[in-house]
Amino acid sequence: MKTEVLYSGKAKTIYKTDNPSELIAEFRDSLTAFDGKKKSEVAKKGYYNAQISKKIFEMLEEKGIKTHFKKMESDTEMLVDAVEIIKIEVIPRNIAAGSITRKYPIKEGTHFTRPVIVMDYKSDEYADPMINEDIAIAMELATPEELKQIRSMALKINEILVEYLDQKGLKLPDFKLEFGRVNGEIVVADEISCDTCRLWDKTTGDSLDKDIFRFDKGDLTKAYEEVARRIVPEIFE
Ligand code: C5P
Repeated sequence: MKTEVLYSGKAKTIYKTDNPSELIAEFRDSLTAFDGKKKSEVAKKGYYNAQISKKIFEMLEEKGIKTHFKKMESDTEMLVDAVEIIKIEVIPRNIAAGSITRKYPIKEGTHFTRPVIVMDYKSDEYADPMINEDIAIAMELATPEELKQIRSMALKINEILVEYLDQKGLKLPDFKLEFGRVNGEIVVADEISCDTCRLWDKTTGDSLDKDIFRFDKGDLTKAYEEVARRIVPEIFE
């Protein structure tokens, strides 16, 4: 049972529960981009993201990847382990898009011959600057052993997701992962959804993700619904 709000983020609210080792993450319809400078509310966004994230977490668990997901509490709320969040955003990239094409002379659409793992320091105050393992260690965000494990988990998850999404007619240019510590173990935390992945339709190349909101590319609810139809068809039965 949820009690007080622990933290209200840009797209999710985290509640405490009567069990100190569990939290409830509520996926809201609010949406932000460009460090919170652009904001909106989009109908059913929270619902589709919660359902997509749940399905992906369950699929990863089946493949031996530990996540914070326990079960759904409602259509938009998941019960999760109360993890200690590691303040690093880990971004596996397969096809160049977004910030990497702005910061470096890399053309959008370039297929990387091996996945590129980018790490950002998760901090609104510093606007999520890119870091590397040495900076992360110097800041004591994680130990060298943890960083090694995080990198290997990120590569494995990327491999699993690329194949899984390919079967659903989706390309995965890039996505963001967060990790947390629970009982001495590193687990995947946060969410894996249309807000945190770039997803391109394999046939048309159309964006079916948050870039629609970032760059006013069309109807976001319709795109998220399309992804949900492919990943969680059972919710439409
Ligand atoms: O903005 P950038 O191109 O670096 O984003 C890379 C990927 O990470 C995108 O899929 C984006 O949606 C995701 N991301 C995120 N949360 C952030 C930054 C990036 O989900 N704070």
